[in-house]
Amino acid sequence: MSKMQIQPGFPVTRIRRLRKTSVLRDMFRETSLSKKDFIYPLFIVEGAGIKKEISSMPGQFQMSLDNVLRECEELQTIGISSILLFGIPEMKDEVGSGAYDENGIIQKTLRAIKKDFSEMMVITDVCLCEYTSHGHCGVVENEYVQNDKTLELLAKEALSHAQNGADMIAPSDMMDGRVGAIRQVLDANGFDETPIMAYSAKFSSAFYGPFREAAESAPQFSDRKSYQMDYGNSDEALREIALDIQEGADIVMVKPALSYLDVIQRTKENFNIPIAAYNVSGEYSMIKAAAMRGWIDGEKVMVEVLTAIKRAGADVIITYFAKEASKLISKE
Ligand code: PBG
Repeated sequence: MSKMQIQPGFPVTRIRRLRKTSVLRDMFRETSLSKKDFIYPLFIVEGAGIKKEISSMPGQFQMSLDNVLRECEELQTIGISSILLFGIPEMKDEVGSGAYDENGIIQKTLRAIKKDFSEMMVITDVCLCEYTSHGHCGVVENEYVQNDKTLELLAKEALSHAQNGADMIAPSDMMDGRVGAIRQVLDANGFDETPIMAYSAKFSSAFYGPFREAAESAPQFSDRKSYQMDYGNSDEALREIALDIQEGADIVMVKPALSYLDVIQRTKENFNIPIAAYNVSGEYSMIKAAAMRGWIDGEKVMVEVLTAIKRAGADVIITYFAKEASKLISKE
């Protein structure tokens, strides 16, 4: 915890002195954004020539592989060096086979990106909800997601991603023990240097609404409350994080970001480990919608929000604003 210094009072102390000019303000700014802070999510569909805007996320697209490669080129030019992949398969089934298929959408994409853009850091979201017909993040039996049966599939998916070139694995399912299960399988197969960024404190949140349109992954019955966290809890978030670290997570994530800045801050205060925050779809869409109506200045609100997430303690931010924010940083 930081210590409060004893200060002489007003009128000797005038805190406004250092706010007087922009040079002073810039010099003493405690938090600033850099392009290196951002991870940009991409949604990949089968086919060719596809670039379909996600109606609830203006400026974000479902893209086929050819357009994803074009996108990587643009990202390189802008200075974004890290992406997070989400795959939307053509066929879904009960056990999400597409997630660990050698010719699955992510596997094909990984091979193509790593061939043309070897410098790009490619992270894959490891989950089953995009691949299962019921839209849940694991194996469903008796209308309940079965934890331990799901672990095997997640480990298989993670290994398949690593074998096809993933630089980092990001499990987002919220099953108990999945970080350990994935770490074990990666290590046993020679991927002991592949980091795991765990979605550790992932809350069951209405802010994921637009993403489920983007990834076509809405649960077909019930909700995700039996595995994702209750948004009233932050002590429990710290238990999740402690366990993931024990199981071998290299980076822990808090998600969503904006309504959970306190959880980010508590994580920062309690653990000495890199922290990622996911500035999720609904947080993006709210700003876009209000800006489109002229109710807020979208660009300024974007920078304020991203800075706040970093100020709270995030080392990296996964955000749909990555491109816009990076362009703005370049201009400055
Ligand atoms: C998959 C997953 C989700 C998000 C990231 N990975 C959706 C969910 O859990 O329903 C949400 C991302 C966003 O809203 O931007 N489990």
